[in-house]
Amino acid sequence: MQRGVTVWFTGLSGAGKTTVAKWVEAILKERGALVERLDGDVVRQSLTRDLGFSKEDRDKNIEGVTFVTKLLTRNGVVCLSSFISPYRVVREASRREIGEFLEVFVTAPMKTLLERDVKGLYKKAMAGEIQNFTGVNDPYELPENPDPVLHTDRGSVEACAGQVIRLLERRGYLE
Ligand code: PPS
Ligand code: ADP
Ligand code: MG
Repeated sequence: MQRGVTVWFTGLSGAGKTTVAKWVEAILKERGALVERLDGDVVRQSLTRDLGFSKEDRDKNIEGVTFVTKLLTRNGVVCLSSFISPYRVVREASRREIGEFLEVFVTAPMKTLLERDVKGLYKKAMAGEIQNFTGVNDPYELPENPDPVLHTDRGSVEACAGQVIRLLERRGYLE
């Protein structure tokens, strides 16, 4: 059986978590791996749809996701989890709970995020229309020892996804 692992993509909105995770998913599927992708925007429409963005709700969100990814991971699935997950101790708790866990920090300068503003959320947050928006008026705690750091303003999506694939290979999660 394939060795399961959770690849946990953390970083600010617009950094590239979803885009890179989708690219990695496509490569893994092409290679015949068992893979599942969980994404904040999707999970928050189903499993955790009753939750908002207070610290308490974010923690509950990550707790629920961690429970699911733990089950998948122990059954040999490569889980690609893309959540802002702004609190370090909460990410560390997920690492301990899941065991087979790689933390991928996805990042770009704030200037780039503001230019991208994929969903127009930064514009709204800067105008004070969204409270608790991570990186604007809500905290993000930097990872201390991320497995790789993906600087999405410097390399292509393909190159960033390649870094993740090589990490999985090096750590023995892919044949
Ligand atoms: S968390 O902090 O891990 O529970 O967040 P997550 O589940 O990843 O959800 C983040 C997505 O929700 C949208 N959104 C917000 N993000 C941050 N702060 C606030 N206040 C907020 N309101 C809505 C946004 O689309 C996030 O997705 P990404 O992919 O990061 O842009
Ligand atoms: P997040 O899920 O972290 O909020 P998204 O993946 O939704 O971020 O948005 C990232 C945006 O940045 C997309 O429009 C994507 O095309 C762009 N982008 C440019 N270069 C990269 C890269 N190397 N990796 C990921 N996204 C990139
Ligand atoms: Mg996203």
